[in-house]
This record gives sequence, C-alpha cells and structure tokens, in this order.
Amino acid sequence: MNFELAEWSSKIEVGVPAIDAQHRQLFDLAATFGGDGDQIRVLKTLAILTEYVKVHLHEEEQLMIACHYPGLEAHRKLHREFRRMLFDLLENAKRMTLDEIAEEVKFLINGWFYNHILIADFDYVPSVQAAASAASMSENAPADLDEGAELAAIASRA
Ligand SMILES: [Fe+2]
Ligand SMILES: [Fe+2]
Repeated sequence: MNFELAEWSSKIEVGVPAIDAQHRQLFDLAATFGGDGDQIRVLKTLAILTEYVKVHLHEEEQLMIACHYPGLEAHRKLHREFRRMLFDLLENAKRMTLDEIAEEVKFLINGWFYNHILIADFDYVPSVQAAASAASMSENAPADLDEGAELAAIASRA
C-alpha cells in the first residue's frame, strides 16, 4: 500500500485535546528516527513508540465506546492491523539497518497513521461532539452522570 508521507499539522487535529496531544506525541517520537544513532537506543525508542501507540489506541477505543460511535468494530479492526504492523517491526528491527527502521517508522506513522487519522479518526468526531453536548445538557440528570463524566474525563485529558 502506498501513502503520501506527511508531517503532523493542525490539519489532522480532531478537536479532542487528549487525543490530539497523543497523536502529536507519536509524530514527535517518530521524527527522532533516522540519521546517526546506535542500534540499542533506536530499538528502545521503537519499543517506547509501540507502547505509546498501544496506549493511544486503547484510550481512543474507550472514547468511541463512551460516545457510542457506531463504527467501533471496523475502527478496532484498523487498530489491530496497526498494532500488528508495529509489533512485526519491533520483532524484525534487530536484523534491520537503522535506515531501514527509520524508513519503516516513516511509512507507519507519517503514512499509515496520518491517513488513519484523516479518514478513520475524523469519522468518530461527530459522535464525540454529540455525546459531549448531550452530557453537558444532562449535567443535572443523575442517570447520565457516569457516562458523561467518563467521556468528559477522556476528552479533557491533555
Ligand atoms: Fe488516533
Ligand atoms: Fe484510530
């Protein structure tokens, strides 16, 4: 699959501060690959990147569940695919050159992940907005309190 490679920009901000901060952090981390470096440090950074991705995808899935996003299962499938690609890279990286690792990280973050945000992540934004406004409208309704509080907590965590 061929993607156009792109750097982080405000064009891919989904409007949920915590999610946007995580997306940006992943691009910042990916930008540290390439050039000179030692194998051990690169492998460590790759492990950190993989862990950050795991945490991000999990939190995003929690957000989608909290706002009853109808495309949850299809989106989860894409996340599984992304995790698998990253774990494959982590597994194979010991036998790769630093340039090869950097190239693959670029493909995964600046290609695959960038396009995933633009297409798949933007698709849940209306559900988040609808849930956020429903939560603020029913602030005084005890029945909705748990769900609203959970969503607000995820959406405001920067
Ligand atoms: Fe995301
Ligand atoms: Fe996603």
